[in-house]
Amino acid sequence: MQIKEILALNPEEQQIEVKGWVRTKRGQSALSFVSINDGSTINNIQAVMDGEKIPEELMKKVSCGACVAVKGKLVASAGSGQNVEVLAEELIIYGEADESFPIQPKKHSLEFLREKAHLRFRTSTFSAVFRIRHALSYAVHQFYHERGFFNLHTPIITASDAEGAGEMFRVSTFEPNKAPLTEDGEVDFKEDFFARETSLTVSGQLEGELGAMALSKIYTFGPTFRAENSNTTRHLAEFWMIEPEVAFNDLKDNMNLAEEFIKYVINAAIKNCQEDLAFLDTRFQNENKTKPQLERSEHTLLEKLDFVIENDFARITYTEAIDILLASKPHKKKKFKFPVEWGIDLQSEHERYLVEKHFKKPVILTDYPKEIKAFYMKQNDDGKTVAAMDVLFPGIGEMIGGSQREESLTKLKTRMAEMEIDEENLWWYLDTRKFGTAPHSGFGLGFERLVQFVTGMGNIRDVIPFPRTPGNVEF
Ligand code: 4AD
Ligand code: MG
Repeated sequence: MQIKEILALNPEEQQIEVKGWVRTKRGQSALSFVSINDGSTINNIQAVMDGEKIPEELMKKVSCGACVAVKGKLVASAGSGQNVEVLAEELIIYGEADESFPIQPKKHSLEFLREKAHLRFRTSTFSAVFRIRHALSYAVHQFYHERGFFNLHTPIITASDAEGAGEMFRVSTFEPNKAPLTEDGEVDFKEDFFARETSLTVSGQLEGELGAMALSKIYTFGPTFRAENSNTTRHLAEFWMIEPEVAFNDLKDNMNLAEEFIKYVINAAIKNCQEDLAFLDTRFQNENKTKPQLERSEHTLLEKLDFVIENDFARITYTEAIDILLASKPHKKKKFKFPVEWGIDLQSEHERYLVEKHFKKPVILTDYPKEIKAFYMKQNDDGKTVAAMDVLFPGIGEMIGGSQREESLTKLKTRMAEMEIDEENLWWYLDTRKFGTAPHSGFGLGFERLVQFVTGMGNIRDVIPFPRTPGNVEF
């Protein structure tokens, strides 16, 4: 039985067995108290060790980090903060941990714990974060399943760059003139696996569109890779993305889906992760107190989550956003570092101003200049903008990027030529426009940025079990 289930039992002196890792040990050899956690809940169970029943030799092996099993009676606890405890009758030591175990019962910095990523699961903070991550992931599948979407597994190794940003991790290179040949003069695939240049995918979108042009409503939820050298608290080289793609949806439908989706999964976390969120909220408020006045959040974590699910997101065009920024007086009347004019790619200082200072809520920005967006976005009638949308979140920045897709073969080909994108590589993508094309839209939500928002963790490296960033691939 998991500790979560045991803690919910009515204590009737029934025999139970607790298995888990020791968090703390107090007391003397005659009577000691050991708190044990198995990761099923933020709460520990306390085992009361009576020196008459548990041999001292064995008790000596119980220390922070050790793995134990305790058999005994479940009784009501007199101590505060817990309803039940176990009166130990038998102790089994699975694995000892000496005093070099790095996760001792004291406050460790997140930086320190990042260097101990293989053991940080054993802290309250990280186990809470990863339980919430699980709950969000489960809610993602529930949301789409309930609405008749099909989960499509798109490839991880690809020969195309969906975003055209050239930020791909190379899997294989290929030089046609140097390809090893068989005796028959064919390319020898045993020697050169793909005989193509291949990379890790930056997005499952293009393949997702193929699925949507038959299954109508699909979503992907998989790892994506970006070889951008961004050492920020919002970027990973390997992150998980959720990408719905829907036939017959226009940009407005796409915005509605994005807003409904985010609210649904946040709501699921609020409902299903109460104890973990309450724990992280306390953590969030303590951190908040140590921040400079200006960066301090006026609200608790739970208030922020409630606010998002209860209020409409703001929706404005890029052009309107530029007007707001031009008319703005950023804090202390200082100008933005990066000057604002129509056509610029919005920098995080601009996005933060719009979301945190101006609207004070999530904002959906639409209709960006075509020059700063990908080739596949639907061109608007003004000839200048495309039917793009980004969803911006307080404290996070861009949570979602998406668009209505260009469904006209001619327009798509023209745009690709302008952007010098090779048609030959994407002939299969263009086929969807050639055979039974249809209006369709989709977006990508960066899962870690969502987990960051929900858990209140400041650094994206602390919401993925094994972060991949420049220079980091140890665990
Ligand atoms: O805006 P992006 O690049 O959009 C796409 O990849 C589209 N193909 C999605 C689509 O329309 N199907 O990325 C989408 C989201 C961003 O809004 C951000 O949340 C996240 O992915 N993201 C990252 N998250 C962590 N680390 C990075 N390096 C990220 N790059 C993008
Ligand atoms: Mg984007």
